[in-house]
Amino acid sequence: MARVRGAARRQRTNGRVASVPAPAATRRSWARLSEQIRACRLCPLGFLRTNAVVYRGSLAPRVVFVGEAPGVEEDRTGLPFVGRAGSRLNEAIRRVGLADGSYGVLNVLKCRPPENRFDRAAARTCRPYLDRQLALLHPEVIVTLGAWALRSLDPTAPALLEAAGAPREEGEPPLFPWIHPAAAMRSRRWARRWEADLRKFRRWWEARSNKTS
Ligand code: URA
Repeated sequence: MARVRGAARRQRTNGRVASVPAPAATRRSWARLSEQIRACRLCPLGFLRTNAVVYRGSLAPRVVFVGEAPGVEEDRTGLPFVGRAGSRLNEAIRRVGLADGSYGVLNVLKCRPPENRFDRAAARTCRPYLDRQLALLHPEVIVTLGAWALRSLDPTAPALLEAAGAPREEGEPPLFPWIHPAAAMRSRRWARRWEADLRKFRRWWEARSNKTS
């Protein structure tokens, strides 16, 4: 991918690093892009959806979480990660200590695929949207959730279970591969892996934040 360049806009307030609001030009470009995504019919999924699912979160995020594809609740509401997997993700985000204005959540696919099966052809069509979103948001760090999100953003990464929990810092911004929150709910073994990777992410993120503050 054209991994995006540049660090998020930040400022120090009372010794803490905080995101500052996105400039007006970014907000205008974002609104235009979001409209294009909502009107998109470039692939068959565009004719099957109830709502395209664009983004939820800050327009000046320090961390962006990238999931795979909207599910039934996301299709209904037009917002990413609002079902059970979303609750799991939100809980993890809280435990990592990310405040509301400092993160955002989106998906590789903007429309729900039938039977929630990741659709590679649709992902190629959606790709320019993802790249433009990440370029406008330019987060400090991207967290990929699940194998398809990882493969989409870093085709050279090893298989998910080998990659998850180990930051990939050779690109800009760096990636942190994580398993998908829905997988964490499937078995105790995956839940343990989710927790272990959560701890790794928290340590890595805190160390990065201390370095840049
Ligand atoms: N799973 C995803 O990958 N994305 C969502 O938005 C919901 C579930």
